[in-house]
Amino acid sequence: MAFEQIQNLNDFKLKARQILPRMFFDYIDGGSGDGGATERNASELSKILLQPRGLINVEGREQKKSIFGQEWSHPFGISPMGMCNMSREKADLHLAKLAAKKNIPICISTAASTSLEQISVLAKGNAWFQLYAGQSTELSFQLVERAKKAGIQNLILTVDVPSPGNRPRERRDGFKLPFVIGLRQFLDLALHPGWSLRMLINGIPKLAHLQESVNADVPVFDRYSGRGAVDLKFLKTLRKKWQGNLIVKGVMHPSDALNAVNCGVDGIYISNHGGRQLESAPAAITALRNIKEVVGSNIPILFDSGIRSGEDIIKALSLGADFVFLGRPFLFATSVGGLKGAEHLVKLLAAEIDTTLAQIGKRDVESLGITNIATI
Ligand code: FNR
Repeated sequence: MAFEQIQNLNDFKLKARQILPRMFFDYIDGGSGDGGATERNASELSKILLQPRGLINVEGREQKKSIFGQEWSHPFGISPMGMCNMSREKADLHLAKLAAKKNIPICISTAASTSLEQISVLAKGNAWFQLYAGQSTELSFQLVERAKKAGIQNLILTVDVPSPGNRPRERRDGFKLPFVIGLRQFLDLALHPGWSLRMLINGIPKLAHLQESVNADVPVFDRYSGRGAVDLKFLKTLRKKWQGNLIVKGVMHPSDALNAVNCGVDGIYISNHGGRQLESAPAAITALRNIKEVVGSNIPILFDSGIRSGEDIIKALSLGADFVFLGRPFLFATSVGGLKGAEHLVKLLAAEIDTTLAQIGKRDVESLGITNIATI
């Protein structure tokens, strides 16, 4: 497929809207409630301005970034996302190959539609694992053990789903896991024959880990119940069990960040889940400013939620993030063009980062800081 018509990340979204059955587009695109927090992520990012600079030699620019002892080719990676294969058959595998080829991190979700073992082999050392815990500590630790055996070194504990987000858009579409195909869903699938045919051939996506792990004593992971038992006690136990880097994702308050630091974590991942949890939550970029003020440079900060361009990535890095992740754009790119689509997305972001660096008088992404933010 040629990508002349895809010149920024929004173009991917517009194209994906045509390709995907409505219920799957809505699952990926949607936020909680009417999408207030998702919109806020974008609008607050757009209010932040970058300071143009001149008379500075910016030849020989590069965008390598190191975190957790590994050097990455770009300062961004793939957020953990459940059920990626709904965007396209084998999407998990395409994204794993992308991570290996482009040397960027991919975070494998507990709710992934392909097993962590399969994804991590293809990602060739670039896979991290994201843990949902709470419903069953035993099941959580089984997964952690599997991640360790697969050679994964970075573990992310997501803490912003004490209860599932309120998603009226999904309910209107009749979207459920496991899928239920009634008349409405049948018509939706029939109107998108390309996607539906490929799914029919490749099989309906399933929650890969959790169905395999089930035994009589361990409750199944259920998307529709909360993970409300995840507290500092659980984090401390996890810290003792996991010798690799431990990162807490979904941090939005400075006190939560400090509590996690005091439990000995190696990284704080600021995120409001792309606006998919609490609709009235502040934009994640606002939380980044507040948390950075309190934790300073003592601990690596990871960031996602609302990033849609190279300029957005530079804004987050300038405000104190050490690494940036994107969620939905990777799924839209994969649904449009599989691995090639995702590669095109990386190319677009890399070009935007490069242009932005030149225009703000910088040669690299390691030296960005608050002075790159324009004051008005
Ligand atoms: C997510 N997100 C998510 N987060 C997580 O920790 N575990 C998960 O299983 C999922 N699943 C998931 C599915 C889908 C379809 C989306 C879109 C998102 C949240 C994700 O990691 C990330 O925080 C947001 O997607 C970032 O916001 P943007 O980049 O999508 O705006």
